[in-house]
Amino acid sequence: MGETYQICECRRVTNTQIEEAVKGGADTFDKVQAITHVSTGCGGCVMDAIKVFKDARAKYLV
Ligand code: FES
Repeated sequence: MGETYQICECRRVTNTQIEEAVKGGADTFDKVQAITHVSTGCGGCVMDAIKVFKDARAKYLV
């Protein structure tokens, strides 16, 4: 497990929360958003959030 840092200021979501959602079976960014609410405020974090999601999906889901 790597370092935990905040991705989304508006919803206070960390990279770890995104990774946990993926591990729990969220295989689309929409599902990650439904679970964590990441990137549902100003939207400014969406590129970073999607990158974390894609990396986690590649790592934890085939
Ligand atoms: S920082 Fe994530 S929605 Fe605003």
